[in-house]
Amino acid sequence: MKLLAVAGARPNFVKIAPLMREMRSRRGLESVLVHTGQHYDERMSRLFFEELDIPRPDVDLEVGSGTHAVQTAEIMKRFDPVLRREKPDAVLVVGDVNSTIACALTAAKEGVPVAHVEAGLRSFDRTMPEEINRVLTDRLSDWLFATERSGAENLRREGIASERIFLVGNVMIDTLRRHRERSEQSAILETVRVSSRGYAVLTLHRPGTVDQPELLGPVLTAIAELSRELPVIFPVHPRTRRVLESGAGAWLACGGSDIRTIEPLGYLDFLKLLAHARLVLTDSGGIQEETTVLGVPCLTLRENTERPATVEEGSNVLVGLSAERILSESRRVLGGAFRPGRIPALWDGRAAVRVVDALVGRTQRSAFSEAPARVGMPDHAATQPLENIVAEPT
Ligand code: UD1
Repeated sequence: MKLLAVAGARPNFVKIAPLMREMRSRRGLESVLVHTGQHYDERMSRLFFEELDIPRPDVDLEVGSGTHAVQTAEIMKRFDPVLRREKPDAVLVVGDVNSTIACALTAAKEGVPVAHVEAGLRSFDRTMPEEINRVLTDRLSDWLFATERSGAENLRREGIASERIFLVGNVMIDTLRRHRERSEQSAILETVRVSSRGYAVLTLHRPGTVDQPELLGPVLTAIAELSRELPVIFPVHPRTRRVLESGAGAWLACGGSDIRTIEPLGYLDFLKLLAHARLVLTDSGGIQEETTVLGVPCLTLRENTERPATVEEGSNVLVGLSAERILSESRRVLGGAFRPGRIPALWDGRAAVRVVDALVGRTQRSAFSEAPARVGMPDHAATQPLENIVAEPT
């Protein structure tokens, strides 16, 4: 069996690492890795390949940045000949970035089955480009691997046959568990001159937050105020840096504030920074999950989340973009009001094993009948059952 795996942007790299490791450990399974080049900076891409031991990509499409339409179309144009040349039995995509939908759509049109890891997450907010990518990728996928129960339930509600839905856990957490101990060797706390639990971490990169000055201004003002009580370490995404350089940076600098802006960090430095933080403020999706596993308080600067398990079970609180709420919730945490919560089911470091087991047919479901018929994959019916990994119908 030949699988073609796709990664394009920073969060994809964290997810693809355990999948590549697992695929390459299986006899009889050939895997090809395609990097779309959506992210290309040293600190947004190459550093992650090195730190996470991701094999060097077999193909680099080098698409770079652009509008959504240009970036998506350019990935499709460049991915199409690769697909025809490699003739994989299936394409594996992860997450919800433009690379995910572009490659899923190209594969589906070529009649190549698609496996989507991190399927079913829904913010129900179509103003988020990622939500559009998620909905469309799931529509096109033959295997849908959900990280949390809500994802499996959303897919069922959308009419996707339960035989295609697998609740497998979270490959991003596979990576966290694998590297957590090693991350302790990072000297990042000394580099940014803070002590354990003596600082907050801030990340902001979503267009919905950073591209609208009327929203960003009050958020940064509130965080500048918070930083008078607790230093705030702010690794700045390239998109956000542009916004700060074009004037928004002034909001960070109210009297007595202590917001330390730094370059984007590699995986190990960032994991250590998160693990020792007193508080994390973010508009990222993945960081909501990582803080849940680390048991660190997370305030999500958005009105919704596609990852409800982090709120219902984990350490995440949705605070939106209101300055008062950001400050009052931060002060509540600093005052000791914090419930560490629990880790969602199957976020145990073995999600990639379950994904690959399902792909090679070692699960009880035999329902991918049209996929094997199209591409001649192994007979799933003759395989070993695995308990507990297939989502129950809702
Ligand atoms: C993308 C994903 C988002 C994910 C984020 C993680 C989409 C629609 N969005 O957003 O879901 O959370 O990645 O970072 O796919 N840039 C660089 N160097 C790079 C990459 C980007 O300077 O290596 C700059 C460019 O100016 C670019 C901008 O960042 O225009 C945005 O990059 P882009 O890939 O379009 O989206 P992200 O905001 O990174």
